[in-house]
Amino acid sequence: MQTRGQQGMRLDRFVSQATGVSRSQARTWIRRGGVSVDGARVRDAAFSLADGMHVVADGETLALPGPLYLMLHKPCGLLSATRDDRQDTVLSLLPDALAARVHIVGRLDKDTSGLLLLTDDGDWSHRITAPARHCEKVYVAELAQALDDAAMASLERGVVLRSESTPTRPARLQRVDDRRVRIAITEGRYHQVRRMFAAVGNRVTLLHRERIGGLSLDAALAPGQWRALTADECAAVFA
Ligand code: URA
Repeated sequence: MQTRGQQGMRLDRFVSQATGVSRSQARTWIRRGGVSVDGARVRDAAFSLADGMHVVADGETLALPGPLYLMLHKPCGLLSATRDDRQDTVLSLLPDALAARVHIVGRLDKDTSGLLLLTDDGDWSHRITAPARHCEKVYVAELAQALDDAAMASLERGVVLRSESTPTRPARLQRVDDRRVRIAITEGRYHQVRRMFAAVGNRVTLLHRERIGGLSLDAALAPGQWRALTADECAAVFA
């Protein structure tokens, strides 16, 4: 987890993040002379802050809030995107002030449910999603047909996905029941789980993400609910 620095940040962005007002409200506030930096009034919204500078607005010292780390139980039917002109996104589940700050850490398909992480800490999300890190993601897939041992062994070894030439990295599979399989993968290719089962002649009818690294979806969160992560949970992702 990081602490947040203000080095190089525009004054209007800083005021907006520190107080929760919109960027345009922050600009108006600054232009009207309500904001000072190190004791001098600054009316330029683009003023670039350095670390250690002291910002005061209407007599109150401002500070950036700490970084945000959230887990969300994504329901089926919402896009994993920060904005979309036509469809509702997962950010519609958050209060506006939080939604304006966070980005999504590793998307899920519109029809996939389960654990989705959101943050405003780019380093943390990069450590989770960087392909070289091979962070494990665990899904439960409901299938159109029962999976035979040969298909299971192929998926465990790695399969070549349609329109690709490199086989998937080895996966771990476990039968849950006749039609449901738990699958752990360490890559994040486009529609990877659905395409892996398609590669062995099957079809995913429901997909749910249970875990990312060492962090499991909180069973107390109903679809659509979210909560902040604890410091231990932020670290557990890398376990
Ligand atoms: N694999 C998929 O096919 N879909 C997801 O949403 C996640 C992994």
